[in-house]
Amino acid sequence: MGRHSNERPAPEHVAIIMDGNGRWAQARGKPRLFGHHAGARRVREIVEACPDLGVKYLTIFAFSTENWKRTQAEVSGLMRLFKRYLMSETKELIEAGVRVRFIGDRMKLEDTLVSLMDELELLTCENDKVHLTVALNYGGRDEVARATKRLSREVAAGRLDPEAVNAETLARYLDTYVLPDPDLVIRTSGEARISNFLLWQSAYSEYEFVDTLWPDFTREEFARVIGGFSARDRRYGAVPG
Ligand code: FPP
Repeated sequence: MGRHSNERPAPEHVAIIMDGNGRWAQARGKPRLFGHHAGARRVREIVEACPDLGVKYLTIFAFSTENWKRTQAEVSGLMRLFKRYLMSETKELIEAGVRVRFIGDRMKLEDTLVSLMDELELLTCENDKVHLTVALNYGGRDEVARATKRLSREVAAGRLDPEAVNAETLARYLDTYVLPDPDLVIRTSGEARISNFLLWQSAYSEYEFVDTLWPDFTREEFARVIGGFSARDRRYGAVPG
């Protein structure tokens, strides 16, 4: 028995709210988009770090259903950044064994972006080293509402008995139906809020709020947070035995 015998294994699924790009840029007297570009570079570093840290699933919050309220310049800049990023990272992601998925409502996203998302999902669908899920036009309440709509259609069509609906049934209609629930949710930039991210899925997740702004969040800090998780105990509401 080593000194780690009381520790849990690494979190299988880590979800991250990447916050603080705007403030990072403003602190340098630069436009907010400058911060988003720096943030995108961090995404690559954190994805690369996952296999060594034992993280199999990584889910990142790239754009929320509320983010449309930002200025038109910032929204269109972000959409351009996503398109460019998906194109420039495709080869790397395939070679690194990363399987990419997207969650969120695609209906409001522009066609060229959606085509790139579909293509990347298809091109990486046989990868299994790391499962990267990007939440784009995602909101937890919106996801549950869309799931409920699909479920209701099944009921209306007589294919689903309303009496048979339970939490497990509903979860099958969520965007995340193939993913395990996150073990750990990290939010950067010192804000202690969930902001509508994976509301259903994080019922039993641990939360870690770090002060670092996302563009400064290094793989070393990521490793420290993962290490902290492994040292804590999680009981799912049960009394320790
Ligand atoms: C939060 O910072 C960040 C976002 C809303 C966008 C996240 C986007 C990236 C990290 C870019 C790359 C992502 C991918 C998938 C390539 P904020 O603007 O809310 O910062 P603030 O709170 O300081 O204003």
